[in-house]
Amino acid sequence: ANSTLIVNSTHTDSAKPISNTFLGVFLEEINHACAGGLWAELVSNRGFEAGGPNNTLNIYPWTVIGNGSSISVSIHHISCFHHNKAALKMKVRCGGKNSCPGGVGISNPGYWGMNIEQGKKYKVVYHVKTKGKIDFQLSFAGVHVIKGASNITKISRDEKWKRVETIVEAKATNHNSSLQITTTTKGTYLLDQVSVMPLDTHMGHGFRKDLYQMVADLKPKFLRFPGGTYVEGDYLKNQYRWKETIGSWEERPGHFNDIWNYWSDDAIGYFDYLQLAEDLGTLPIWVFNAGISHHGEVNTTDIAPYVQDALDGIEFARGSPTSKWGSIRAAMGHPKPFDLRYVAVGNEDCNYANYQGNYLKFHAAIRFAYPHIKIISNCDASNKPLNHPADLFEYHTYTNSSDLFSQSTQFNHTSRSGPKAFVSEYAVWREDAANGSLLAAVAEAAFLIGLEKNSDIVEMVSYAPLFSNINDRKWVPDAIVFDSYKVYGTPSYWVQKLFIESSGATLLDSTLNTNSSNKLIASAIIWKNSTEKKNYLKIKVVNFGNTIENLNISINGLNPNVLQFDSISTVLTSPNAMDENSFLEPNKVVPKTSPPLKVYKDMNVILSSYSVTSLEFSI
Ligand code: AHR
Repeated sequence: ANSTLIVNSTHTDSAKPISNTFLGVFLEEINHACAGGLWAELVSNRGFEAGGPNNTLNIYPWTVIGNGSSISVSIHHISCFHHNKAALKMKVRCGGKNSCPGGVGISNPGYWGMNIEQGKKYKVVYHVKTKGKIDFQLSFAGVHVIKGASNITKISRDEKWKRVETIVEAKATNHNSSLQITTTTKGTYLLDQVSVMPLDTHMGHGFRKDLYQMVADLKPKFLRFPGGTYVEGDYLKNQYRWKETIGSWEERPGHFNDIWNYWSDDAIGYFDYLQLAEDLGTLPIWVFNAGISHHGEVNTTDIAPYVQDALDGIEFARGSPTSKWGSIRAAMGHPKPFDLRYVAVGNEDCNYANYQGNYLKFHAAIRFAYPHIKIISNCDASNKPLNHPADLFEYHTYTNSSDLFSQSTQFNHTSRSGPKAFVSEYAVWREDAANGSLLAAVAEAAFLIGLEKNSDIVEMVSYAPLFSNINDRKWVPDAIVFDSYKVYGTPSYWVQKLFIESSGATLLDSTLNTNSSNKLIASAIIWKNSTEKKNYLKIKVVNFGNTIENLNISINGLNPNVLQFDSISTVLTSPNAMDENSFLEPNKVVPKTSPPLKVYKDMNVILSSYSVTSLEFSI
């Protein structure tokens, strides 16, 4: 039998406003999302600090060009940079009469290959110290000529560290290139902080344009950052410390991301996350460490320095340019305060022994200094009230597709008198998701519809993780997958796009009558397009079943005789539930817009198995 959906398109008492901040994104340094991802820096281990869990000095992934008789390299704590003392010592034994054919030196492959593109310009910076003459040749493998006279750098002899900066232009394209710094001149050279940045980044702010655009296309209303467990660290010594991520890039110590097992040079530091939020026109949500890591906690009696760090961080973001920390932000080029209105005390820390005690200290101090900042607790209050004050509580869920489908009702019975819910991480994972399946995405769409229906209590939602470099998929699935030069969205990414209009829209009263084993779920929203000055209605229906369904849709309030000509029908589906996108088939599972559907007051729609259908038209 057919199922029916009755939508009341006129405003009624049961219509609910959906929060303006409903759909956002969560950016964590996981899967090389930032280092070797959104941050456009091409050099990996640019400061020679990346030493792994024990912080040993490690040249990886740099390699040596030349044999042992002509060159040797080692790393020592000899840099001119005080917070990151490791630097490379390169002893060149050839040169002069004992020539070095082709030159000797070092090479960096970037993050699984540097993307060097014809006609693009790159800023190369390095710091060098030697007793003799510096005669370095810069080149990119497979890119035969670099235009411009500045690719050979000659510096007269002295014994001070020099900063060398040069712009080069690629005359060929190689997506898998590497930087080579070579010389034919004998001598001992110290090298540190070597960077290759494309000039063409988003607004010159350092964000890789194609990846930035993928996020911008989601029109996120908030940006939660920088983690995730990345904030906590497996051990407290490797936690994210915002004060060590600001200032000039050369001075940032970087740190070992021990949760996801790679070095973070903190090029996307606290300032840069805030800048990213501003560029996206979205609200930053800063997650700070609550004195808790996976193996070690700070007692509440000792938490004061952490509380002070959080207060300082808020002042850095939104204090006046004359305040202590606001002045550092201003010196970094942003005198205007960032619009920081939300902070989260820790990540997934609710069940740790010291969380509640620590939380209360953070809460009291922040509430006192910044009465209007919204404070987010890690403790789930979807089933029982919180026992501490908070503006929002977090809810995280990673589960199988059937369970996430059922979690569409998770907030139906949540107390309406407590704090609002922030579903800051959700996804289908493991077998049902594989690398990002249609099945996962369909269940996620159902879950999101459930959140829309509970939008009086659910204020925000973000999928996780956002990004993955295909060469380091520590966590699958993810919304956006990339390599050095390509990118695609998983079906879960495309589901999020179908919910863009929900932020700030009004949820209409709708009733779904179905006997198809509860595999359908639907919602209807209206919103105003202020440029067109038109109201739009969007009906979304999820079929989580493996059979085709017929759905009769009845829209009360529409003139029965008027056909809506501007309707758009969009469907996300695929022949197999486990179908996914890949670099070979990036558009295998993407929403497809069918020819305009004739929208009448009453109509029949055929829902493919495992599908998300969206009907949109002006009213
Ligand atoms: O999104 C990946 C991880 O999942 C996050 O770091 C953590 O918060 C959660 O457990």
